[in-house]
Amino acid sequence: MKIGNIELDSPFVVSPMAGMTDTAFRRLVKRQGGCGLVVSEMVSSEGLVRGIDRTLEYAEYTEEERPVSIQIFGGEPAKMAEAARVVEAMGANIVDVNMGCPVPKIARHNAGCSLMREPQHAAEIIAAMTKAVKIPVTVKMRKGWDDGEVNAPELAKRVEAAGAAAIAVHGRTAKQSYSGFADWDVVAGIARSVSIPVFGSGDCIEPEDIVTRMRSGVSGVFVGRGVLRNPWILAQARDLMAGRPARQITDEERGQFLLDYMELLLADEKGEQDGFRHLVLQASSPRPQASKERWVVNKLRALCTWYTKGFDGGAQFRIGVNEAKSVAEVETLIEDFFFSRIPDPGPRS
Ligand SMILES: Cc1cc2nc3c(=O)[nH]c(=O)nc-3n(C[C@H](O)[C@H](O)[C@H](O)COP(=O)(O)O)c2cc1C
Repeated sequence: MKIGNIELDSPFVVSPMAGMTDTAFRRLVKRQGGCGLVVSEMVSSEGLVRGIDRTLEYAEYTEEERPVSIQIFGGEPAKMAEAARVVEAMGANIVDVNMGCPVPKIARHNAGCSLMREPQHAAEIIAAMTKAVKIPVTVKMRKGWDDGEVNAPELAKRVEAAGAAAIAVHGRTAKQSYSGFADWDVVAGIARSVSIPVFGSGDCIEPEDIVTRMRSGVSGVFVGRGVLRNPWILAQARDLMAGRPARQITDEERGQFLLDYMELLLADEKGEQDGFRHLVLQASSPRPQASKERWVVNKLRALCTWYTKGFDGGAQFRIGVNEAKSVAEVETLIEDFFFSRIPDPGPRS
């Protein structure tokens, strides 16, 4: 399938997640297979235009992630157009607009999901951006603001008319935040009503969920929390779509993923990765060693909240990671938890 002129070799996408889908994480998910597109964490249009180091850092990516989409947020058409130019100049394949974030800090600034309340203004942003850049401009939205304002169907048509190349719809309202369930009927209705690709988002926790949702008529599926719990979920969904059983992942592989993640985070900080977009790192001042370690440990804490959910002993492991003070301590915890687990003997006869 294609978004504009960008070919995706799988319809499964790593959904943008602030604080989580950094370049290191995206690379590792991509390496497992089944992933057609990765989307960055949301990046401030204001920070991009002003060239603020820490903002630019969120837009970092490496060659192996391609095709890569950078998601930006903001509410001013001219600024969003300028930010789209920065994203294009960085060499990204797609620029995505966040129209789904319900967090007041973002929504207050007439950005994120509050744009859904002003469809005309939202369409003006897309029109300004598509005029400014050649790369495809896409939109990620929610079902609407609340049950009284379910306007994703209307907004989808407006942004299509303004030049958007694809849309992704999370089937919850902003009011719902993450409660209840995603409404895939609304998503499927939108997929039928526009001619650009429509991706659905929400509640795909098992690979089977992705396969089921693909049958609803969407062009593809964005997977968020499911990838944080199980970075192999997209590869497993592809197995199922191809009629194969989903690959089994061992505890050791799960542990190794976390070790690799830490290694990449540390290497990225030193700017050691091949093909890394140094545009950003050269400009930013490297963190001192102590704060770098703290940053990596914090990253692991955030991921482990999702990653070990439902695991036997997972809560205890998370307490350990939350108390750890150094990368070495986290490594030891990972080794003890994932590499020394007593295998489940299975059912007794
Ligand atoms: C921790 C977290 C951070 C998120 N950050 C973003 C974001 O920056 N931009 C965005 O469009 N959506 C963001 N989302 C929403 C997800 O991309 C996705 O649409 C939503 O979680 C529903 O899909 P899921 O059930 O597969 O997680 C975030 C979700 C989570 C859980």
